[in-house]
Amino acid sequence: MNTTTRRFPRDEELGKKDDDHDKLGKATPWASWRARLRYRKRRITALCVGLFVLWLFVHHMPEPLGPVEKRYGQGGLGTSQPFGQPRRGPGPTGTPPRPPQGTQTEDAKHYFSGPIKFYQLGRTLHGITKTWGYQTVNRNVLFAASNLRSASVLIPIACDMAKWNRNYVHMVFMGRDNMDLDEILEINGVDREECDAFWHDARPDYSEYSSESRAEKSVAAALGYINDFMHPQVIITDDWAQEDAFFGTAVQSKTKLQRHPVVQLPKGAAEKFEWMTRLDAGSLSAWHKSTIDILIHAPSESSGSLIRTIKSIQDADYQGLQSPRIIVELPPEIDPPTKHFLDTLVWPPSIKENPLQASQLILRHRIPTQKLSAEEASIKFMESFYPAASGTSHVLLLSPQAQLSPLYYHYLKYHLLEYRYSTYDEEDRAKLLGVSVELPSTQLNGTSPFTPPGADVMNDPKYSKQKGAAPFLWQAPNSNAALCFGDKWIELHSFLSNRIAKQHSASPPKPRAKLVSPAHPSWTEYLLELMRARGYWLLYPGLPPSETLVTIHNELYHPPEEFAPPTAAEKNNAVEPLKLSEHEAFIVPASPPPPPSTHEAPLVPPSRPLHVLLPFNADLPEVPHMAHVSHAGELLSPADAEEAAAEYAARFRREVGGCGKEPKGKKRVVKAGSARDLFCFGDEENEEFENVAALPTAVAAETLMETSSLASKSRTSSSSSSSTAAHTREAVAELVGTVSDGVDRPGPTTAETGGEADSKYLD
Ligand SMILES: *[C@@H]1O[C@H](CO)[C@@H](O)[C@H](O)[C@H]1NC(C)=O
Repeated sequence: MNTTTRRFPRDEELGKKDDDHDKLGKATPWASWRARLRYRKRRITALCVGLFVLWLFVHHMPEPLGPVEKRYGQGGLGTSQPFGQPRRGPGPTGTPPRPPQGTQTEDAKHYFSGPIKFYQLGRTLHGITKTWGYQTVNRNVLFAASNLRSASVLIPIACDMAKWNRNYVHMVFMGRDNMDLDEILEINGVDREECDAFWHDARPDYSEYSSESRAEKSVAAALGYINDFMHPQVIITDDWAQEDAFFGTAVQSKTKLQRHPVVQLPKGAAEKFEWMTRLDAGSLSAWHKSTIDILIHAPSESSGSLIRTIKSIQDADYQGLQSPRIIVELPPEIDPPTKHFLDTLVWPPSIKENPLQASQLILRHRIPTQKLSAEEASIKFMESFYPAASGTSHVLLLSPQAQLSPLYYHYLKYHLLEYRYSTYDEEDRAKLLGVSVELPSTQLNGTSPFTPPGADVMNDPKYSKQKGAAPFLWQAPNSNAALCFGDKWIELHSFLSNRIAKQHSASPPKPRAKLVSPAHPSWTEYLLELMRARGYWLLYPGLPPSETLVTIHNELYHPPEEFAPPTAAEKNNAVEPLKLSEHEAFIVPASPPPPPSTHEAPLVPPSRPLHVLLPFNADLPEVPHMAHVSHAGELLSPADAEEAAAEYAARFRREVGGCGKEPKGKKRVVKAGSARDLFCFGDEENEEFENVAALPTAVAAETLMETSSLASKSRTSSSSSSSTAAHTREAVAELVGTVSDGVDRPGPTTAETGGEADSKYLD
């Protein structure tokens, strides 16, 4: 099994974003450790896989596809006739025997319904062992077409995907046409050398004479074989309305049994979806998994802007994607135009054609007319959304001043699939809180201008040699238009409930300086604290200043209610004025904020698809390669950023969380989805502490690292495993600190070190 061993590295290379990945951080001992361990692990895995392949061969030897055939003969589609038998050789020519006179046939030409034999499929399926298709989780992506017109839509996409070298790309031809495979490829201008895809011909003998039901069964049978040899993570087809009818029926029923996700490219949308070629199999297989809810908090007297925001959501492009749910939080007084607009709003538009579709519009209306305090407003806002499933349900926070580009949903979907569901780079991605659609022009405090970092300061030579706009990570919340991942939202809920409990406890922390401009709603201040303590980032778009995916309009600007000047009714004492609670967490500004004066760039038109719009040929950079910008707008190296987060967390525990010194040799356990570890209420149980790494020997460290890298590779449920990986990694990072300098000493917790020294990162 030499071939397997030799090819394994290529499999590891697959899926990562660039081939010079190892250059990053090569100089550090940590990196060389990792490299050595990875090599070791690779050898062991290769050996196991080799043995497994040997076993497969011994058990499945007798005839090509023998056992599989038997399996399919006994059931498959529930017929007793033998069908779907792969054979070798060129296959029969001429016409199949005609049925006896008087038998019903649907079509004069499509009369044959005899046994199905595949003459071409077995050979190519046997040729793909190097794609690890016998494993259920792998990197195989299958394009399937029956109709020649659909094939010519899919072929360029398949070749494009193969070029990015993240997946093993397969294309299978099914259906009735009898044109030679080579001929099909030639007509479509495919050079087998240049286009690194695997081609399969799953057309049975006498395919052009197949009756409708034989054609359908042949597609289903072929998908059965393909599944055994390939376990495709996703099947990509043309719009079924454009395909042969039997193809859609068979693919639908068969993939439902096999549980493979199917992506149908909507008619004429191949170019718009070109970004999908940059995704890996993990991301593509999550195509239908995630949901996005849009949360809009509408202040009073904002009808004009709210209507414009919702209209821009309606006008965006959702073809081939699941449209988002819209949640609108209404003020106590709804003005008549808004009321009328919402009364007649139909969302999603497909309800009109499909009466079974449920409405996806949710309205919430507030009853108390009294103004809310900053704390109450934050709670109110957070409570209006909670993810149904932490791994798949995400929320887009949208200001009613926002107007979205028709492309915004493609933008979000692409980033969500890459940064949330890719099988690669799981540990680093766990630090991503979400994706902002807006690129602000001012710093968080709203007074100084903000200049986004360009490609030249990115952490990888592949990018830093270039100029121009680039996506970057900023430790700054965004309330205008930002997608927040479901699991992070859950953690924010936990943070806020602990934070408020502490604020109302017997010994509340002193009110802290407000860092975020009061032009942004009060909850952003809490989110900033969580982001800094955990080292979370929001990804900001890399677009030139002349283009934007969302315009924030100022002409109808309303400050957040909690920071707004008193209303006329309040002034006349008609309504009781807001009493500031002595428990406020942040120093409330004395005067209301001035309206922001942001530059309103034109929206990106739909004629500029994402792969043209985004920098680097729309290849999304890995998390560590992007520039990291602190909340105050300073550029940090990824290592400094990590250190800053640890220091901030330690100081936060002391100053806000009410924690004293941690017991010797112990530190707080960070649980997924909880921020409880940042607070002390005096009732902490023993299990809320874990031992600080006290494994002085290299062997112990090695074991831990093996587990950690395995955890990051396995991809069961992305949310849970990613957070486990993150935790293990933290533990490992500390271990390496003790191991690499060769001194046997109990590793100090990062928290303790940070706690002693006052740092430049703290305010
Ligand atoms: C606003 O933030 C920027 C960047 O952190 C800082 O340079 C500036 O001094 C701040 N302005 C005020 C008024 O605090």
